Amino acid sequence: MTGPDDLLGLFPPGTAQDGDGMLRIGGCRLDDLAAAQGTPVLVVAEQAVRQRARDYREQLAARWPDSQVVFASKAFPCTAVQRLMVTEGLWLDVAGGGEIVTALAAGADPATLVLHGNAKTTEEIELAVRSGVGTVVVDNEDDIDRLDVVVPAGRVQGCLVRVIPGVQSSTYPAYATGHSGSKFGLSPAAARQAISRIEASARLRMDGLHTHVGSQILVADELAAAVAPLAALGDYPVYDLGGGLGCRYTYTDQPPSLGEYLDVLISAAREHLPPGARILIEPGRSVVAPNAVTVYRVTTVKPGATTFVAVDGGMGDNLEVALVGQRFEATIADRVGGGQPVTVVGRHCESGDVLSANVPLRDPKVGDLLVVPVTGAYCYTMSNNYNGARRIPVVLADDGDTKLVVRRERWDELLSRDL
Ligand SMILES: Cc1ncc(COP(=O)(O)O)c(C=O)c1O
Repeated sequence: MTGPDDLLGLFPPGTAQDGDGMLRIGGCRLDDLAAAQGTPVLVVAEQAVRQRARDYREQLAARWPDSQVVFASKAFPCTAVQRLMVTEGLWLDVAGGGEIVTALAAGADPATLVLHGNAKTTEEIELAVRSGVGTVVVDNEDDIDRLDVVVPAGRVQGCLVRVIPGVQSSTYPAYATGHSGSKFGLSPAAARQAISRIEASARLRMDGLHTHVGSQILVADELAAAVAPLAALGDYPVYDLGGGLGCRYTYTDQPPSLGEYLDVLISAAREHLPPGARILIEPGRSVVAPNAVTVYRVTTVKPGATTFVAVDGGMGDNLEVALVGQRFEATIADRVGGGQPVTVVGRHCESGDVLSANVPLRDPKVGDLLVVPVTGAYCYTMSNNYNGARRIPVVLADDGDTKLVVRRERWDELLSRDL
């Protein structure tokens, strides 16, 4: 089914409805959860995340045994989620010093961290080297200058070189990173020069190559197209093929399944890469996005040519709509399916603060709980204090129990940095 009747298909696996219609995520009724934690609240279905992490690991290993799944922390950079990944055997991609800090707090072995960034500062490189981060992905020549100074004599830092594969993808322009005009990585010619410098350095070890085509990519061939340009740069022990597998946010999205994506990617690897190489992949969005929902309280219903249903959150906790125009669906928590089209808006001072335009809701009323599915990726990441919004809590829901892993920001914390 490809319409609102399929709304539950956008929710985390295991989502159910009680006899009175109330949704249960991870076995927990959303009204109980909202009563305990307030709203808005980000609810993560813990078992669904763990299962997805395991599926990634097992399905990649089945196709390429010497392989590793590296969770892109940026998709949900809180220690509790990073810890779930670590306990499921994933490595962590960390973009910048802050994600190193949370990854280490999550108990990650520093040797399993992969540091990214197109603008790493000396401070961040020092933190990475001091912490024993296993892999630094070199994005530019300045990274090499800094590493050569920061890595102490007698130590050797493992490096990958990020290569622009020259792949156009059909995702949102802001999410595309593989085209020749990208700010991330080096063209193949510039990469050759960086490789030579790393190979000549006594403090750096040239482990291999990295690429990342972009995010929310719904065409597996676009992801696999990056493999041949890497292979053209030569044989290395490691190839990190990035993340980017897209998710189903709305009824018309048809992402490849995990198996279909890996079939296409690994068949390109078999064709182009040395058989003895180790392959890393770096999924973020497709591990967490479908496995969490955001629960809001309806604060106002304003009838008119467009009926606006306003909630107590918005672009302070979900920037994906305003940033790239990502479509989200929505439902009243205990009245799923059916209803009349309305526009769900947030509480922020922008007309662009829309959570879901033209979405059918059944008889929305002030005080109702409204649920937006597929909010597990990049929503926590980009949460902010716009209009004095307090950043929202994160709850893990599992087998009928809830665990608060990030509390709601307090009013006084909004003053805590003011001198
Ligand atoms: C270098 C790198 N690796 C992995 C990812 C994860 O991408 P996604 O969340 O789309 O899987 C990103 C984010 O775009 C990234 O920049």
